[in-house]
Amino acid sequence: MTVAALATAWHAFLVSDAPVTPDCAYWAQSRLPGGWQVEMAGTQAMHDWQDWAERLLGLGAPAQQMGDPARGLHRMAFHRDGRLAAALFVGPQPVALSRSHLAAMLGGALTGALAGRPRSDMPDPGPTVCACLGVGLNTIRQAVARGCDSVASLGAVTGAGTNCGSCRPELSALLRPVPMQAAE
Ligand code: FES
Repeated sequence: MTVAALATAWHAFLVSDAPVTPDCAYWAQSRLPGGWQVEMAGTQAMHDWQDWAERLLGLGAPAQQMGDPARGLHRMAFHRDGRLAAALFVGPQPVALSRSHLAAMLGGALTGALAGRPRSDMPDPGPTVCACLGVGLNTIRQAVARGCDSVASLGAVTGAGTNCGSCRPELSALLRPVPMQAAE
């Protein structure tokens, strides 16, 4: 078997309330509490991102969009009955944004979706612990502080650990009390 790096022309991140089947060189889809998140990359330049996204999602034209086509940057938000049904972020490199924040926005208002990050006055979910469900370290710590004392209860409250399970050892570690340092 030969392994070779993929020569990518673009990267994209999508949250969607329905699963999708992108026609691109690489994609990986994982479950969220309210839908799906998809990491994608392609080897061919895309000439009409809006047309591609409309065919992929079947939601009609984007309700909001912004971008800088000369730099290969595109952002689009799509609605279903006025609520956020999908948001697509495209760039020449892996797209830097708060995946857990976007996951939490699915099914809610469209306002601010294209920012891809929480407003400065909103709680930061922290670095992602559970990639499948988009749950951050701060969210886990808050749930523990409010009384979650098992991986199962963390799953029930935050969704973390309820899909592939690979984050459960890390969830267990976050439940263990931090040992006190002995005084010198
Ligand atoms: S990373 Fe898969 S369930 Fe958490």
